[in-house]
Amino acid sequence: MRSMIRPDLLELPGYVSIAPTDVLAERLGIPPERVIKLDGNENPFGPSEKALAALAVERAYHIYPDPDQGRVRAALGRFLDVEPERIVCGLGSDDLIDLVMRAVASPGDGVINCPPTFGMYPFSTEVAGGRIIDVPRQESFALDVAAIERAAPDAKLIFLASPNNPTGNLLRSHELDALLDTGLIVVVDEAYIDFAGRDHSFLPRIAERENLVVLRTFSKWAGLAGLRAGYGVMSKTLASVLMTIKQPYNLNVAAGVAVLAALDDAPQLDERACAIAGVRDRMAQALAAVPWITVYPSVANFVLCRLDGVDALEVKNRLASRGIFVRYFDTAMLRNHLRISAGLEEHIEPVMRALREIGAELGR
Ligand SMILES: Cc1ncc(COP(=O)(O)O)c(C=O)c1O
Repeated sequence: MRSMIRPDLLELPGYVSIAPTDVLAERLGIPPERVIKLDGNENPFGPSEKALAALAVERAYHIYPDPDQGRVRAALGRFLDVEPERIVCGLGSDDLIDLVMRAVASPGDGVINCPPTFGMYPFSTEVAGGRIIDVPRQESFALDVAAIERAAPDAKLIFLASPNNPTGNLLRSHELDALLDTGLIVVVDEAYIDFAGRDHSFLPRIAERENLVVLRTFSKWAGLAGLRAGYGVMSKTLASVLMTIKQPYNLNVAAGVAVLAALDDAPQLDERACAIAGVRDRMAQALAAVPWITVYPSVANFVLCRLDGVDALEVKNRLASRGIFVRYFDTAMLRNHLRISAGLEEHIEPVMRALREIGAELGR
């Protein structure tokens, strides 16, 4: 059988994904309410009440959804002040990453990736048979624009997150200008923009720059990660190709219903995003007071921490045994790091108490 399968896929390590609350609770033998889940940058408030109510009254779950995504694209067009023909929706922004990749990169084409960043960019590149060109970020996690410019002639596409996951910093306007000037398709993934302030979005540039693609998601701002709804905004030409090659029903009925209701509830969701940003800042301040933790500035809904003199994996595991889940990184650029999502205000105290206890257990 193995000889029938693409050899590069047999070697693929795969995306390191996270488990949902019920699975974590079952593993630990605790009730799901006791889990403090800060490993997935999910929205701790859950979906908007309007979205939950709309999902409960919808009856057409036995009918295939609209392959043209007409109502949702129109509503998004009004919300964003963008022509609906520029918008394509999908199964989370992950789907849009995959679609743009397949529309632009042929097997063997170069795709620039700037680690440390979101793991779906290299994952989707490899699945599509593309060639990853890693251009690491600088120590400050700013892009190395000169190195990207040097790599650009060998590539078709570049993926960037702003704010970046897991570093929490924004792409700067002059950096984007330089990247767009290379002529590459530049995908700016704004999954976390609502926590930074949408005035930092590059969406207003869409009309003037043909090679710019902006991705957004309902997973973070709207608390719909489990329903899978995201979208991309791009040139009409690229959007029409994506509409042709996508799975016809990639925005399911439930996701469509919830998205429309969430857009209708935007002020409430903005308030929640603002509250989450407040928790992020207070948690960052508390973490920074721990002598063995260095916190990086973040405008997203998480903070990245470097641990000194204690093993971050051990800390992660000891937090998990207390029902607190965070993300662990040990890559070339992120040795011994943890990423902690901003949860509810009441999560800060137990997290900090657990970290102090674990520090003492580990001799710090
Ligand atoms: C930068 C970034 N983009 C996209 C996503 C995925 O979003 P979605 O749930 O819409 O697929 C994530 C999820 O963590 C992310 O960190």
